[in-house]
Amino acid sequence: MPSQVLPEVRGVSYSRVTLTELMIPSYANFGGKIHGGILLSLMDKVAYAAASKHAGNYCVTVSVDGVNFLQPVEVGELVSLLASVNYVGRTSLLVGIKVIAEDVRTGTVKHTNTSYFTMVAKDDEGKPTQVPKLLLETPEDTRRFFEAIKRREFNAQYREEFNNALTQIAAVEQMGLLQNERCQIGY
Ligand SMILES: CC(C)(COP(=O)(O)OP(=O)(O)OC[C@H]1O[C@@H](n2cnc3c(N)ncnc32)[C@H](O)[C@@H]1OP(=O)(O)O)[C@@H](O)C(=O)NCCC(=O)NCCS
Repeated sequence: MPSQVLPEVRGVSYSRVTLTELMIPSYANFGGKIHGGILLSLMDKVAYAAASKHAGNYCVTVSVDGVNFLQPVEVGELVSLLASVNYVGRTSLLVGIKVIAEDVRTGTVKHTNTSYFTMVAKDDEGKPTQVPKLLLETPEDTRRFFEAIKRREFNAQYREEFNNALTQIAAVEQMGLLQNERCQIGY
């Protein structure tokens, strides 16, 4: 089947998706809460759905940002993952995912986390391929696009500063830095 002819630009709403799943007992850990890996797998699926819809091609996950599970998810809750493409580069897309969990008996909804998946579109030969530009349809879309630019800049700056810090640590007395840490040298 031939690939579709891609438009030059696609609206944010075109690829917005929601995935809802009931948290069944087999998803639970020994403490009775839902495994973080179950939620990560659902986030990866919904990120893939949003990215590949926008790209009109298969996409792969390159990096994941901002995964903090601050509230546990319980068995029996209905988890919804709301995803949209926040930003596109040439071949990459940043998908924002908001995860909420609803207790169906009380109607209480909690926001468990918001995370950002960077995906890259691939062509039939497996090479990164260009994606349509993003049509920002609301001021909210523009705010998210702008935030994504800042996120990229901060991540690049963080990587550089972290690598510099590691080089400096190697130069000073590493053992001294461990004095107040909860470890002991066993060799
Ligand atoms: C991601 C991948 C395609 C990058 O390949 P590459 O040869 O470095 O390609 P490019 O340099 O052209 O980069 C492609 C895009 O990825 C982005 N990218 C590359 N590394 C990145 C990183 N660490 N974080 C964020 N974006 C990254 C680039 O900025 C570029 O985006 P742009 O086209 O919008 O500017 C390649 O590393 C890959 O296929 N990785 C495996 C992904 C996979 O299989 N994931 C599934 C889980 S196993």
